[in-house]
Amino acid sequence: MITGKVAELLESTQYLQEVEVNGWVRSFRSNRFIALNDGSTINNLQCVVDYEKLSENTLKRITVGAAIKVTGTLEESQGSGQKVEIQANSVIILGDADPEEVKLTILSPKRHSLEKLREQAHLRVRTNTFGAVMRLRSKLSFAIHSYFQQNNFHYVNTPIITGSDAEGAGEMFKVTSFDLDNVPRNEDGSINYKEDFFGKETNLTVSGQLEGETYALGLGQIYTFGPTFRAENSNTSRHLAEFWMVEPEMAFCDLAGNMDIAEDFIKYVLKYVLDNCKDDLAFLEERQANEDKVKPEAERSPMSLTEKLKFVIENNFKRVSYTEAIDILKNSKPNKKKKFNYIIEEWGADLQSEHERYLVEKHFKCPVILFDYPANIKAFYMRLNEDGKTVRAMDILFPGIGEIVGGSQREERLEVLQQKMRALDIDEEELWWYLDTRRFGTCVHSGFGLGFERLVQFATGMGNIRDVIPYPRTPLNAEF
Ligand code: 4AD
Ligand code: MG
Repeated sequence: MITGKVAELLESTQYLQEVEVNGWVRSFRSNRFIALNDGSTINNLQCVVDYEKLSENTLKRITVGAAIKVTGTLEESQGSGQKVEIQANSVIILGDADPEEVKLTILSPKRHSLEKLREQAHLRVRTNTFGAVMRLRSKLSFAIHSYFQQNNFHYVNTPIITGSDAEGAGEMFKVTSFDLDNVPRNEDGSINYKEDFFGKETNLTVSGQLEGETYALGLGQIYTFGPTFRAENSNTSRHLAEFWMVEPEMAFCDLAGNMDIAEDFIKYVLKYVLDNCKDDLAFLEERQANEDKVKPEAERSPMSLTEKLKFVIENNFKRVSYTEAIDILKNSKPNKKKKFNYIIEEWGADLQSEHERYLVEKHFKCPVILFDYPANIKAFYMRLNEDGKTVRAMDILFPGIGEIVGGSQREERLEVLQQKMRALDIDEEELWWYLDTRRFGTCVHSGFGLGFERLVQFATGMGNIRDVIPYPRTPLNAEF
């Protein structure tokens, strides 16, 4: 007897073989046809029962959501819609699901809104939508590792607890073992961190970049892929307080090389899911199409999900300098008609997501890489250009998502970096180890950070970032 997964059995041609399969009941029609799903695929396996062979009690307990074990023979299906089915000899109820309680209708997000399902994290993964999203997320992770492993990058695990604020934005969660009702103080009233667990102030990392740079300047090419944390109070469809970031860092690589790798990498992973997640993508494509039907025309996606993925894979990303982008935005209709919330007046303005989306969705109509930003709107570690006012930064902007990647060529010159840190009041003593990389065999190097959930959003067509991570953490929400 073979114990199989639904995904394997659906592909099998070993007819008349005795098989055993475990799963959850998706539906039970006419006291005869069970649609069984075990999470291995979005597709269900049809199990045909002969009600005369089963006790009344067992039949009654084959309800939506129940866990069961089916034993029977694999046969070519007579019905349409599936190649194989199981003629069941026995059905064992492993775990009941009370039909009354299952009114939660775990099968149909149509009847159960995505928001409502977020409160049922344990049940939502049994819906087609979340099953598809989570399988695709898993495949994307694998593709990310494949890409880097195939291209001579080493996987480095940077610390989650750190003393540094890589982005200098101060949006950090503190890590402490102090009794918060009784915090040790210095004579001047300030908190005495010397008595804290690490003997200093620590926080959850906002980025593994600085530690990643150190390793790239020894291992050559590295990548991190781990959780990062930001205490920014952004309640948007693209922000999480805990999200996963992929951060490659390459020694002997300049900004142009950085853009080449980022573009090649994104295309590779999207192609991977296009080739390897066909059934889930087909479902998600239809889901998005249905969602679009009830939206006003202007908000509908101009392409289907797979068309959109193919478009990104097959076309060059448009590379545009910040200065060119500002010119385009200044002369754009929404700017002239004051339709933007933030009107672009002059060079130096920080770009808001409305501007990024205008460039990508209205002007260029393709992914855009913006580079050479003004130094004073970007982080301290970016390499200063010869003009003395711009830095070698690059952001990749995607349709429907906005910024998906942020990266740069790093400032490898010790004195310039120190000057910059002084100007921004960044503690040189705290970052002595980072500065040391510039003291011993410094070299041109670059890297970027890709927001993993934003990538999953793009690949699945899900509108809200909370729906592409198993347990979303957002302001006022850390349930489960
Ligand atoms: O642009 P960011 O802040 O860049 C860095 O952290 C650099 N240290 C990366 C590097 O060069 N190694 O963040 C990188 C990406 C963004 O482009 C975005 O996709 C994602 O991380 N991101 C978020 N995703 C979800 N929720 C948030 N709150 C995010 N903040 C940034
Ligand atoms: Mg950024």
